[in-house]
Amino acid sequence: MLKNKNILIGITGGIAAYKAAELTRAFIKKGAHVKVIMTKNAAEFITPLTLRTLSRNPVYMDMFSLTGDFSIAHISLAREADVVVIAPATANVIGKIAGGLADDLLTTSVMATTAPVLICPAMNTNMYENPIVKGNLAKLAENGYRILEPAYGELAERTEGAGRLPEVPEIVDEVESILTAKDLAGEKIIVTAGPTQEPFDPVRFITNHSSGKMGYAVAAMARRRGADVVLISGPTALPKPRGVKFIPVTTALEMRDAVMKHLKDATVVIKAAAVADYRPATRAASKIKKKEGPLEIMLERNPDIIAEIGKKKGRRVVVGFAMETDNLIENAAAKLKNKNMDLIVANDLNQEGAGFQTDTNVITILDRKGGREALPLLDKTEVADRILDRVKKIL
Ligand code: PMT
Repeated sequence: MLKNKNILIGITGGIAAYKAAELTRAFIKKGAHVKVIMTKNAAEFITPLTLRTLSRNPVYMDMFSLTGDFSIAHISLAREADVVVIAPATANVIGKIAGGLADDLLTTSVMATTAPVLICPAMNTNMYENPIVKGNLAKLAENGYRILEPAYGELAERTEGAGRLPEVPEIVDEVESILTAKDLAGEKIIVTAGPTQEPFDPVRFITNHSSGKMGYAVAAMARRRGADVVLISGPTALPKPRGVKFIPVTTALEMRDAVMKHLKDATVVIKAAAVADYRPATRAASKIKKKEGPLEIMLERNPDIIAEIGKKKGRRVVVGFAMETDNLIENAAAKLKNKNMDLIVANDLNQEGAGFQTDTNVITILDRKGGREALPLLDKTEVADRILDRVKKIL
């Protein structure tokens, strides 16, 4: 999403300016080109040399610095930017932009750019809650500026409160979202992710190795592309993706109920969850004490959620996954047909870099017309994007 994008970072004079170094590195790692404008006060908190080194570009500080090609800095910086990110944004720069002031390179570039501008306020809680600052932020939002609300947490003066610059991954995610076409706007997408846990006493349960990464990547990407997303997730160790309706479940029965509850409004269902096909027939009320000899546990069938969805598919787009260890394509094609899916994403657990736990996956997408799209090893984020491209085509 950020590859070869031109990102202009504006740094102003707040203690959180030190995070701009990490933010610059994060954008560079994603393949973006970064240029930095620093206000004088920002240089009190972090040196231009640091940013010059990290951004691999000169750092622009004053209004009258001419760029190499003798164009006027603020005009060329404003024109080439795909997105402008002011992080941290002080109450001062927020007030100047809201008031239409343009007396330094940063405010002049912001005024001259037609690119989206993301403001990341960071300041002492009392300043952030000051009605004038609130009013300025509201005015900026009304005028199309994107505001990334600060986090609640420990601030420089060791107080607790709102006003803390969000963590770098959150800022990066917001910028990626700003630069992603909202081609799924209006769609209501249910995504299931993670394993289910099927207990047989209060202490023990049957589960599988699903980490939830695949489903969470689909949910995050669908939101980034403008969809309303309901993420129904088994137990995972992952942070919740931002901006999605998150519904935690434990067992397959709970997952089924949650899916059926939200199915009515859904235009798309993508089932990446590794749902247990069986559950223990009985759940002991107390911990089963070990005895000599084997312990036998009778398992009974869980509902086949995606098959149930397929029976009342209507115009909904239904995407399933097939997790196989052999006969990948045949098994996946059979599931696609028998369960009335539109697409099935086949992944072979024996394939290096595919399946459970990994940040990558190797998938083949099968469709109802017998089409097959085999993808190379890709990051699960990229895999999610490709799956959603196919969903978009069907929509
Ligand atoms: O979570 P990760 O660590 O990132 O791993 C990703 C993954 C390997 C879990 C994922 O890529 C994947 O393959 N998910 C599907 C796992 C699975 O249950 O596949 P399956 O072939 O057993 O089931 C086929 C389809 O039916 C799946 O869409 C599944 O969600 C659905 N299903 C299965 C059983 C059941 N009782 N109800 C269902 O709806």
